[in-house]
Amino acid sequence: MACLLGIDTSTTATKALLVDERGRVLAVSTSEYGYATPRPQWTEQDPDLWWQATISTVRAVLQQAQVRAADVAAVGLTGQMHGLTLLDAQGTVIRPCILWNDQRTAAQCAAITQAVGAARVLQLTGNPALTGFTAPKLLWVREHEAHNYARIGKLLLPKDYLRYKLTGEFFGEVSDASGTSLFDVGRRAWSDEMLQALRIPRAWLPEVSESPVVTARISPAAAQLTGLLAGTPVVGGAGDQAAQGVGAGIVSEGLVSATLGTSGVVFAASNTYRVEPQGRLHAFCHAVPGMWHLMGVMLSAAGSLRWYRDTLGQPEQQAAAAAGRDVYELLTESAAGVAPGCEGLLFLPYLTGERTPHPDPDARGAFVGLTVRHGKAHLTRAVLEGVSYGLCDSLQLMRALQIEPAQVRASGGGARSVLWRQMLADIFGTEIATINVAEGAAFGAALLAGVGAGVFADVAQAARATITVTERVTAGTAAAAYARYYPRYQALYPALAAEFGALAALAREDAA
Ligand code: XUL
Repeated sequence: MACLLGIDTSTTATKALLVDERGRVLAVSTSEYGYATPRPQWTEQDPDLWWQATISTVRAVLQQAQVRAADVAAVGLTGQMHGLTLLDAQGTVIRPCILWNDQRTAAQCAAITQAVGAARVLQLTGNPALTGFTAPKLLWVREHEAHNYARIGKLLLPKDYLRYKLTGEFFGEVSDASGTSLFDVGRRAWSDEMLQALRIPRAWLPEVSESPVVTARISPAAAQLTGLLAGTPVVGGAGDQAAQGVGAGIVSEGLVSATLGTSGVVFAASNTYRVEPQGRLHAFCHAVPGMWHLMGVMLSAAGSLRWYRDTLGQPEQQAAAAAGRDVYELLTESAAGVAPGCEGLLFLPYLTGERTPHPDPDARGAFVGLTVRHGKAHLTRAVLEGVSYGLCDSLQLMRALQIEPAQVRASGGGARSVLWRQMLADIFGTEIATINVAEGAAFGAALLAGVGAGVFADVAQAARATITVTERVTAGTAAAAYARYYPRYQALYPALAAEFGALAALAREDAA
């Protein structure tokens, strides 16, 4: 029996997932860890945490599933994107990895934009230079830690560091490289123009492959530690978002996913390299060779509902505990009794600032349009509707680029709510589907491994062989009401943005 191993190294945990040739889960193991915030807005992590967690979770899944190491046909890697992992000439880690959510590099982003030109950065790399991306972090190290900069021999992304530990080889792949600001996303190769403009040696970067291609093999030393067989192939793998897309079957144009986790992600597969003219969508290479993906990220999606539960939902929490029920079920049950549009009450979900479509760390949440007729159930429904409108903003940017979503696949905790899924169908004007797989990026990485091992002909066939739609909802009569309210929602951020900025400045003064 051939089985496939996916390893997902996220910011909070590493997960190993073993599946069979039909995508059935044989074993899962997760090992959690923390990250450091040495200063406000800084986030760092010791790469050894990922490696130790990889060793223990791989050992655990092999043992749980009772499979022989020889049965593992290939390994696929995925993980948090954008992290700057620096190694010296001997392969030793120089300093903790600076993570994707670190915000220290505003000045370096401005410098990159200045050096290359905003339009050229967008055209070459598919995105503006963003604080989360890798190149600004490298420039920060050059400016602030010259002693570390002088030692650099190689620069790797987190999952590619694990590949180095597992195989001894330096390799990257196109989807993750897309988030570095150093990659020519249209040509799927490192950008000599960006490297020269930023004075970064090409030799520091690993060769890149397409995601399902075998790049290296498990080394004898890593075999000893993990229990895998030396020589087991390791494919390129993918950044967590592209792998999540594969794991949800978003492998052909027209398919889109909407993930309602703490943050919300709208992800579309694209046959061609398309760039949103203002850089409001991320444009990255997809893990499907020859395809790209577009992505919008909302920072507080289901996170908005959790905030609401924790602040205003105390009575419902007590009632749920007394009745042995889920508090979200109680909240959405009452919201279902309110008419779409909440009698003119709108919620802006920018509780932690926003990324898409308003890249504004100072954006704030708001209830707008309260009257004495509004009660708790209206507030709850307004939160669900506001998050749905916010996700629709990303979808609309995609539509403006001629992406026509035939189906949107919803996942994440929020997608468990039937009311929320129906709302998405009504507001998006598309079918909303749920699928049989919930293992996300690790599952996508395992499918990529399956393609590399020859278990599947290609990524599309891997998805067809393993992923099925379990439920669908289509747009209903409420769509007409939402169509009247959505423009009002869209008008609110521009109307309030300057005041949000002023409030954020006051709050900073008060906190100082
Ligand atoms: C993608 C992104 C996150 C990180 C962490 O652009 O910032 O998905 O990869 O999960």
